[in-house]
Amino acid sequence: MIIAVPAERTIEETRVAATPETVKKYTAWGFEVRVEKDAGNHAGFADGDYQRTGAKIVATPQELYQHADIILKINAPLPEEIQYLTSGQIIIANFQALAHPAQIKTLADKGLVCMALDMLPRISRAQSMDILSSQSNLSGYAAIIEAASRLNKAIPLMMTAAGTVPPAKVLILGAGVAGLQAIATAKRLGAQVYAFDVRPQVKEQVESLGAKFIEVNQEHFETSGGYASETSLEYQKQQHAAITAQLATTDIVISTALIPGKKAPILITEDMRKQMPDGAVIVDMAAASGGNVEGTVNGQSIKIGNLEIIGNSNPARLIPATASKLFANNIYNFLASQYHTDSNRIAFNFKDELVNKVCVAQNGKILI
Ligand SMILES: NC(=O)c1ccc[n+]([C@@H]2O[C@H](COP(=O)([O-])OP(=O)(O)OC[C@H]3O[C@@H](n4cnc5c(N)ncnc54)[C@H](O)[C@@H]3O)[C@@H](O)[C@H]2O)c1
Repeated sequence: MIIAVPAERTIEETRVAATPETVKKYTAWGFEVRVEKDAGNHAGFADGDYQRTGAKIVATPQELYQHADIILKINAPLPEEIQYLTSGQIIIANFQALAHPAQIKTLADKGLVCMALDMLPRISRAQSMDILSSQSNLSGYAAIIEAASRLNKAIPLMMTAAGTVPPAKVLILGAGVAGLQAIATAKRLGAQVYAFDVRPQVKEQVESLGAKFIEVNQEHFETSGGYASETSLEYQKQQHAAITAQLATTDIVISTALIPGKKAPILITEDMRKQMPDGAVIVDMAAASGGNVEGTVNGQSIKIGNLEIIGNSNPARLIPATASKLFANNIYNFLASQYHTDSNRIAFNFKDELVNKVCVAQNGKILI
């Protein structure tokens, strides 16, 4: 079988979907692995590193895709890549299938098989393949590091001969995978951390990391699948009041609140934002879904007054070596679950719920 690993062409993408470590495993299966020239450059993997683990470096997308069986990507292919793809080829990527149905249709019309790893069911067997978790976790970490580097003051409590520096205050909105890692990272830096979420069971997790949980009332907004649902107007009023009271002394906000398939909820309005101290920094990780903060611009860092708002839904891209390593491992684990040692081939079992949920296009049909 032939596996192809292109260089990502999406703007600002820094990651790559296979590392020399995973290439070594594919070649050990007897597969031919082709890697596009410079594909791993941002992530610190040179062409020579891939060659040493058995990959062939190819210069053009035409050469890369010709006769390839499986294509490993971070993002869905762009039109300039789609022209070289042929019917029956299998693409594994983060398609963000629910948000981009037209893109899936284009790929289905071309007869491509799209395996959207972002659609994996969140069951224990799938944990090692879960790109949403691996990248959200790193994003929570990277968001705090980015905010701390932009803040004009120190984070930890420092008692020095020259004076005492109080700890910075950090507020995390949405304590899912990203939010919990942001809490843990901010605590490690010595911040005083507060967090808020609409799902009640998160309180215990937040407190076990040493942060204070901001409570609004006893109402719960959660689906049976463990995701947040939209809140009532009355709840939103109480939530805004609780967050506003906190903002007056908050130096860093990391907002991660998302509702699957919906626009992100606004948790900080323009009026609320004005309560924040000068020099405060907000990283809005919900930016790609509309943002949790009024005024957020996706993909940009803007100054409003003396406040900085960074609209970055994927801070994991700031640490491409680690992010690529985990993404590539997720893909390898997914393929390993479908690999047959007797035939030395990958044969997807469409009766397996993993494959079934992940496959969003096949035989010209859209499957979501
Ligand atoms: N393999 C697994 O079993 C697995 C892996 C990862 C996550 N999960 C679970 O999936 C669920 C979602 O996690 P996620 O990180 O993908 O979440 P997410 O990215 O969908 O949302 C981020 C957080 O925002 C919160 N939120 C939504 N609306 C809000 C609002 N109005 N105000 C405040 N907070 C709001 C959500 O409750 C969530 O905690 C959780 O129950 C998590 O434990 C399971």
